[in-house]
Amino acid sequence: MAVGGAITSVLAWQIEAGADEAIAETPFDRLAVASARPRRSPEPAPEAARPTGRTASAPVAAGAGEAAAAATDLESLKAAFEAFDGCALKETATNFVFADGSPNARLMFIGEAPGAEEDRQGLPFVGPAGRLLDRMLAAIGLDRSEVYITNILPWRPPGNRNPTDSEIALCLPFIERHISLVDPAVLVAVGGTAAKALLDTREGIMRLRGRWFDYAVPGSDARIPLRAILHPAYLLRQPGGKRDAWTDMIAIKKRLAGPGTTG
Ligand code: URA
Repeated sequence: MAVGGAITSVLAWQIEAGADEAIAETPFDRLAVASARPRRSPEPAPEAARPTGRTASAPVAAGAGEAAAAATDLESLKAAFEAFDGCALKETATNFVFADGSPNARLMFIGEAPGAEEDRQGLPFVGPAGRLLDRMLAAIGLDRSEVYITNILPWRPPGNRNPTDSEIALCLPFIERHISLVDPAVLVAVGGTAAKALLDTREGIMRLRGRWFDYAVPGSDARIPLRAILHPAYLLRQPGGKRDAWTDMIAIKKRLAGPGTTG
């Protein structure tokens, strides 16, 4: 193969693997990240009795908590979050991705972070994973206009890498306020990253899915039932997980139908 052809195929391989951004203009202290978020005991208390929520000592960017708390409605939260300069992902993302669907919905989905298509369009879950999420919603008789959809992070991590603990901790006050303003009847954490961030746990999605948690809304006594589901991007790679995803969607549907049904 000629040198030009070899270089082209290496580049194509990198793009295929998700390394499609030139990054790292901002230094990133991975040692600091390791100690960024204090964790609870790995052994969870019984789920019904276990209020969730971020521990008070998790790091928060200067102003993030104040800016989020000062927002009295979704418009002002969106403006405050978009203006927030504490997270370096903002530098590399094309668009700020806030939310989609109905703010009056009783069901709120929270994913991980925008992917390439979401970054292009400025809307969450509009790429291949989003199309599968739409089909999962249709399976329980809902469409996007009847639910509310957002992500833990509003900026795409370059090359679709996993968000770091520190990026999540920096943005968490905004998603917490987001939840409190939407005040859904049921919360759905889409995938392990969202579930771990919202439940403040290191447990994996395979242990978190299939059961109900009480999400403790920070700064209030409110509790919202939370279900973690397998991420549709995972299901696209591992269709065998669809049976579990289906079970969780049915449980969510039942929970929406009445507080007495647990699924
Ligand atoms: N994956 C997510 O978690 N969120 C999106 O918006 C798209 C893909």
